[in-house]
Amino acid sequence: MTTPTSGPLSCRREGPLRGAIAVPGDKSISHRALLFGAISTGETRVTGLLDAEDVHSTRKAVEALGANVRTEGGEVVVTPPEKLREPGDVIDCGNSGTSLRLLTGVLSGVPGLSVLTGDASLRKRPVRRVIEPLRRMGANLSARDGDRLPPVVVRGGALRGASHVLEVASAQVKSACLLAGLFADGETSVTEPERSRDHTERMLRGMGVPVRTDGLTVAVGPARPKGGRVDVPGDISSAAFFLCAAAALPGSEVTVRGLGTNPTRTGLLDVLTAMGARLERSGEREVAGEPRADVTVRAAELHGTEIRGPIIPRLIDELPVVMVLATQAKGRTVIRDAKELRVKESDRLAAMGETLAAAGARIELFEDGCAIEGGARLRGVTVRTRLDHRIAMAMAIAQLFTRGEEVVLDDVACVATSFPSFFGLLDGLAGSAR
Ligand code: S3P
Repeated sequence: MTTPTSGPLSCRREGPLRGAIAVPGDKSISHRALLFGAISTGETRVTGLLDAEDVHSTRKAVEALGANVRTEGGEVVVTPPEKLREPGDVIDCGNSGTSLRLLTGVLSGVPGLSVLTGDASLRKRPVRRVIEPLRRMGANLSARDGDRLPPVVVRGGALRGASHVLEVASAQVKSACLLAGLFADGETSVTEPERSRDHTERMLRGMGVPVRTDGLTVAVGPARPKGGRVDVPGDISSAAFFLCAAAALPGSEVTVRGLGTNPTRTGLLDVLTAMGARLERSGEREVAGEPRADVTVRAAELHGTEIRGPIIPRLIDELPVVMVLATQAKGRTVIRDAKELRVKESDRLAAMGETLAAAGARIELFEDGCAIEGGARLRGVTVRTRLDHRIAMAMAIAQLFTRGEEVVLDDVACVATSFPSFFGLLDGLAGSAR
């Protein structure tokens, strides 16, 4: 039977998970390949591009700005326009915060009027964090509810470089500022409190843009990237679901081949190791500026750990499934400094807190994190997925720890935003163990 792609889904699988897989391309890198390709000179050829709704949103947006995106064999080819044009309609970014925030940066420097909106989840996510720094560069922007929420209206024009000091580490805000900086006079720098993912810096360098880094500061001057080749590694945020499940389900062994292992993204591997997981990396290599490896996890007895401080931006998207994992570890796991989880596709602390508690986990929520007492047997539960792909997938993994009880996801359409093949790969790993 094939898994439905929308509406409710009842999950009932049993472990262990066994097998070797590749996961789809990294979402962050895929967005950037299309967007940077669209503002370059010359063609950009992309292999391994993620084929999922969030990336389709970026693709439609760059097409609306005059880029041509076509598939040729196994490659996606982006041909930029001579000059980006004013879009003829509102740009709908769907569920994708990365599309909306990065585009806001680019559009600030493109003459003309643009309106960016999204689905009910995206229209609840904060945009003042990009509007304020871009305004300091002379951009003309406004947004709903006193500049707090999308839709965002951008009237692009001349920009001047500025030095930004961010209050929270955010690759989306950093990237929006740097992209605007490419269109601005003078230098634009961004200083973060902690290091966020650096895919923008790596890809811009790969496209010939001088990017200066000094500690937690990164700076660019006016430049136009040169199109080239991008090879997108597997998304560690997608692999996380299987790596966490395999770490805790007795008898499991899962290998993910060609996985992106950029150190700004591998907080999960550090946490798995700290919890006692048996983890192995092999075949480490760098392709097109991004490191990758084959990563194997074998089940082991896990213990609780503390996750806080600079590691948080390095595993922010993996925290929902880490919370599931913590329910299976011996002792207490504490997550702090993760307030950002409250402004993702849903309030992920509230969503996972309520759902795991309903499934029998012992969990205490804080404004910026949670504490979980491990060793609980989880029960079947009905999950309100709240248009949040990672809540849906994390709870499909939680079901593996219910000893056969059913977890019902109220609507699985959201899974297609980042990982349409999730249930198929999960079935393959569970099935090959039988
Ligand atoms: C992303 C940055 C992170 C992350 C998001 C993707 C990116 O968001 O949570 O899924 O591609 O730049 P923030 O910049 O809001 O931390």
